[in-house]
Parts: sequence; C-alpha cells; structure tokens
Amino acid sequence: MTARDEPRSGEAPWWRDAVIYQIYVRSFADSGTRGVDGVGDLPGITSRLPYLRDLGVDAVWITPFYTSPQHDHGYDVADYRDIDPLFGTLADADTLVATAHDLDLRVIVDLVPNHTSDEHAWFRAALAAGPGSPERARYLFRDGRGPADAPGSEPPNNWQSVFGGPARTRVADGQWYLHLFYTTQPDRDWRNPEVGDMFADVLRFWLDRDVDGFRVDVAHGLYKEASLRDQVLDEDPATSEPKESMVARTLRDEPMWDQPEVHDVYRRWHEVLASYPGERMNVAEAWTQTPASMAKFVRPDEMSQAFNFSWLLADWSAQAFADVVTGTCEALADVGASPTWVLSNHDVIRHTTRYGGGPAGLARARAATLTMLALPGSSYLYQGEELGLEQVDVAPEDRQDPSWLRHRGATGEVGRDGCRVPIPWSGTSAPYGFGPGEGQPWIPQPADWASLTAQAQTGDDGSTLEFYRRALAARRGLPATTAESVRVDVDGDLLTITRAGLRVLLNCGESALPLPPGDVVVASGPVDGELPGWTAVWLTGQ
Ligand code: BGC
Ligand code: MG
Repeated sequence: MTARDEPRSGEAPWWRDAVIYQIYVRSFADSGTRGVDGVGDLPGITSRLPYLRDLGVDAVWITPFYTSPQHDHGYDVADYRDIDPLFGTLADADTLVATAHDLDLRVIVDLVPNHTSDEHAWFRAALAAGPGSPERARYLFRDGRGPADAPGSEPPNNWQSVFGGPARTRVADGQWYLHLFYTTQPDRDWRNPEVGDMFADVLRFWLDRDVDGFRVDVAHGLYKEASLRDQVLDEDPATSEPKESMVARTLRDEPMWDQPEVHDVYRRWHEVLASYPGERMNVAEAWTQTPASMAKFVRPDEMSQAFNFSWLLADWSAQAFADVVTGTCEALADVGASPTWVLSNHDVIRHTTRYGGGPAGLARARAATLTMLALPGSSYLYQGEELGLEQVDVAPEDRQDPSWLRHRGATGEVGRDGCRVPIPWSGTSAPYGFGPGEGQPWIPQPADWASLTAQAQTGDDGSTLEFYRRALAARRGLPATTAESVRVDVDGDLLTITRAGLRVLLNCGESALPLPPGDVVVASGPVDGELPGWTAVWLTGQ
C-alpha cells in the first residue's frame, strides 16, 4: 500500500473537500509526440501536471481519452479499455497517473456508460446479427411505426436528441436504434444484464490501473422507461425544433431521464469501488429535476458525489446564490452527502461570459469563484477559468461540436466549441505554447490572447491566475466545515456566508458597500476600506 492508499484516519475521504480541475484532453496541451496535429494529448497533460500542483488543486478529471472516432470528441467510445492513438497509449496513461500521484494529485477518468460509438464492436455485431438477435438486445433497437401502406417507416417514438433532431435512426434492415445524443452514439439497453456486467469489468480495468475515481457521463440517462412512451414535445412549427432548450427539456419529467432503476447500477458500482484500497470515488453528471432527486444519487450506498449545476444555472443575484447554497445543503444533509460546486465546464458558456463578459464579467466571475471556494464540499474548476478566459465566438466554418453540426444553428444555439478553445500557455501568437509548430490548433485561438497566457499572468499580482493561486492556497488553510454549520444571509446586494474560520462577503451590486471590520484573507479584486461592486472577500477576526 502506498501512502495514498491508506485511509486518512479520522478524516473525511479526500474527495469530500477536494478542488478538482477538469482537463478537456483535446484542448489542454499538445505534446507533438503524436504528430504535430494541434490536438492535446496525454503526454501533453503529463508535462503540465506541475503547473496544476502549483495552482493548488487536489485532483484532475480528464475527459474521455478512449479509442473513438471523435464525432463527439471522445464521448463516443469505441473501446473502453484502450487509448485513442490521437491521445497516446496505455503506457502514456500509466505514466500520467504515476506522475500525478508523485505530485500528490489524484486522477479521475471519464466514463460513458449510456451509449457507445457506432464503431464499438458490440454495435457492429448488433448491426450484423439482425433483428431479434442477442447482439441487438444490447442496444435499443425497435421496429418503427407508420401507416398501413408503409409500416415501420416512422420512428417507434417521438424522442428528440439532446443535440437536436430525432433520437432515432433507421438501419438497412428497417429497424430503428435510439441515440439520445448524436446519430453515432447508440444508447445501450441497461435492462440487459450483459451491459451491467461489461461495465463492472471496465471499472475494474481502470481501478487496476490505479485511477482514483470516475466522472460518470449522463448518469441519469442509463435506464429508459420500459414502455419507451412518447415524450411531451412542444415544437416550433417553423423549424420543427423543440421550443425549449436542451437543459429545460432534460430537467422535465421525461421517459428517458432519471428512472428509479438507475440507482441499482450505482449500488453495484459502490461495491466495486469499495473493494479497492484507497478512497476511490465517483461523481455523477446528472441533470436531474430537483435537489431532492440529485440527493438520491449520493445516498450512502451509491455514488460519492453528484455535480450540482444549480449555481451555474442561477442568475447573478445575492438572493439567487443564497437560495442555491441553502437548497443544496438542505437536500444533501438528508443523505449525509457533501455538496459540490461548479461554475464552468466543457458543455456550458464560460462563466466570465455568462456574467456579462469584459472587465465586469471577469470581476463577477472571480467574485463568484472566490465565494464558491469557501463553501463546504468540493469545487470543480474548468481548464482556462484560472486564466480568466472568455467564451470564444468561434466562426461558423470552424465549429466542430456535433450539437451545432446536427442543426447548424436552426435553434440559435451555436454549440460548445467556444469553451473548448485550446489553452494559451505562452508566447504572443497562436498556438500560444499549446503545442509545437506555428499554426492554429484544432479550434483556432483568438488573436488577442497574448496577455492571457499562463506565462504572461505568472508573477502579476493583479492577474486572474495569481488570484486563483492565492485563493486555492488560502483554502488549504481553512478549518474543515460542514454543510449544516454554514449560515447564509442576504442584505440587498450583499451575500454573507459564515462558515468555520471565515466570513465570505459577496457584493453582487455595482456600487461599493462598507467593508465590515476583520482581516482580509483574500479578495477577488482590489479592496481598500470598502467592498467594491462585483467583488468578494474572505474575512477573519471580529
Ligand atoms: C457530456 C457531453 C457529451 C454528452 C454525450 C455529456 O453530458 O458532458 O460533452 O456530449 O454527455 O456523451
Ligand atoms: Mg497532439
């Protein structure tokens, strides 16, 4: 057993209050060892781990690096037990994990159990074997509906894909398969026991390679209501697209999300994780309907954590933030789970831009981050937020997200490429040290990023990077706190959170407010006798 494997006696498991940094593998760092391709890779990540240790995070979550045709940039897995040649080899993965552990960083890998790629061996076998075969029963093939003169010519139900358009595609023999996401991402049938057995083996494969945990993609989607009944749709007749956004649809009660049987899967996985030494964990990506249904995923015998998207979805206001904090803590207290917090990830608009962009957006983003970092539980950061990056307005011809390709803007959604632009590390022009060579990486970087590189910000006290370093260092010095002991107060634009060892003040308004007495531990912007607008501060004393 290594030190990392020994339970921290009397202490909570590491993940309960960890800061976890999300790496979007294609866009973090390109080593060039896989060819000068402008795409990030595993050796690139390994080479940048010391930066993350110095930043002050506890763990990394790495988005899917498995063999994949990359139609959804890795969330379409063709082989769960190998690395895509674009990103490296299994030996590179082992080196990454070992290097991270040497630096005292944990490693969480991304699991995609809801669907495979259409290039997965099981899906190819399902197509070859034909209707009624056991191979087909691992996916959700059905005969279609349709008028008497054209039976089967219409999809078996009206389900819409999260990426737009119908969630059904017809194959040559006339059957239709379900894909809640892209056409190349067929959904598995989790009611088939073979699927669960295969996945327990996949977990063991990666646990044997010493990973510390799993981020579970679409954790609320694995089971579909057995009837596969139609969903309630509200389409715009002009475009035949649903009027509601992807998030709104996902949060509504629908036959493909948040079915009760899904919890049996997580009970089984709990046992698998518990059978390994060390404190292995998993975190659910579950866009569930209410805080109470989120809490079900983190009951004591299920998953370790669930992403809590409620702050990310909240408006910029002291009251909205207060409601999120108290609502989350109350829902999780019932099951004894610790909260998680997140403001940005690879699927949403970066929070600098959500909060208005420009200097005001950045000030608000830093203030929200500092407030989040004082909350009980763990925080998830997304690569580049520590540089204050904004959402990039990627030109239509450069967009690659399947959610954009599927409808090419029919719904006004431009896709997620704008938060996936490769990271600027150094230098004054693209690729800003992201990789070797002179050219643009897989998504072009803006011409005005020279002052945002990690190198340019290092040593500049006013920079966002140095602010993150200060905040994460200060967080390490905080005494432990629990969700139950946190107090939340709202006074107009001022949100005050009181926790063990600290008061956090967040001014959501534009005008300065008086700063109460106390010692400033860290602030999100300049603080001089008062608390300026869109600024947060950690205070001790008094
Ligand atoms: C991931 C997305 C992905 C989708 C399908 C998600 O929720 O975060 O990036 O496109 O699952 O796998
Ligand atoms: Mg590369």
